[in-house]
Amino acid sequence: MARGAEFLGSEVAILCGAMSWVSERNLVAAISNAGGFGVIACGAMTPELLDREIAATKALTDKPFGVNLITMHPGLFDLIAVCARHGVGHVVLAGGIPPKGSVEAIKAFGAKVLVFAPTLALAKKLLRSGADALVIEGSEAGGHIGPVSTSVLAQEFLPALAEEFIVFVAGGIGRGEMIASYLEMGASGVQLGTRFACASESIAHPDFKKAFFRANARDAVTSVQVDPRLPVIPVRALKNKGSEEFTAKQIEVARQLDAGTVDMAAAQLEIEHFWAGALRRAVIEGDVEYGSVMAGQSVGMVTKEEPVAAIIAELMAESEAALTRR
Ligand SMILES: Cc1cc2nc3c(=O)[nH]c(=O)nc-3n(C[C@H](O)[C@H](O)[C@H](O)COP(=O)(O)O)c2cc1C
Repeated sequence: MARGAEFLGSEVAILCGAMSWVSERNLVAAISNAGGFGVIACGAMTPELLDREIAATKALTDKPFGVNLITMHPGLFDLIAVCARHGVGHVVLAGGIPPKGSVEAIKAFGAKVLVFAPTLALAKKLLRSGADALVIEGSEAGGHIGPVSTSVLAQEFLPALAEEFIVFVAGGIGRGEMIASYLEMGASGVQLGTRFACASESIAHPDFKKAFFRANARDAVTSVQVDPRLPVIPVRALKNKGSEEFTAKQIEVARQLDAGTVDMAAAQLEIEHFWAGALRRAVIEGDVEYGSVMAGQSVGMVTKEEPVAAIIAELMAESEAALTRR
């Protein structure tokens, strides 16, 4: 973990993964002030909004923090320019393979680049062509997910990469014993989202937090795709009336396709737009019935509101006790 902490410039190599609407100035600054590493979720923000968010975060902490940019954002290079102006130290490129020139544009102003990779071959390629660190994220995680569990990714990626490169493990981590295990396998640190989403410093709506405290692991389910013609991006969230309606919507649109009353492009767009704005509705407005309450399977281990510092201290104590016992 010392290697990961040195890379991040934090006391401990525990990142709070960017969570759209949740990972804003307050939570990010709190994580970094507590010795972890906070990451601003840029999501669909404009360059102006990101500029304001970085400035506001800097006003709350003098510790290092990162910025997470979604690779499909149409203004990706403008967002990178905003990070450059602020001298952001670490940029996380999420949501897909980094487009041509993006890694280079980030490194050009001296920042470190963290990437995700779905396969070992692609991870090696990215790390050998300039990325500074890798995050492997398993399907237990909250939000947009891949198909493979964290335990399998860890076995595949860590023995092959961890000696030479900085690798952080994410997805389904709820306790320090798990952190100890991944460190033992060579990880330089870990990234958690679900455990931090409802911290005292998180601005998430009280009803969003209540939904987390009540939920068990089995409530955090993956979005279902009903028809092969209508692709659905897998997202892990708490099941609610919105997810039931999403299934019904897909059946309705598939029937319209069969009847020839809509064309394929319109049908796919309708499915794609179903959840537009839904995470904001859940996090900010507290609509936990119809909004998207993104949560990982570790949600069952989130039972109360606690300050970030207490969560980090607990994780570190559990991890240390586990390693001492061994
Ligand atoms: C509410 C929520 C929103 C998220 N939004 C994003 C996002 O905007 N960008 C991103 O790269 N990851 C996002 N994630 C994933 C987290 O950054 C993190 O990798 C993940 O939560 C780790 O797994 P865990 O939930 O099991 O701790 C989100 C997760 C949650 C729970």
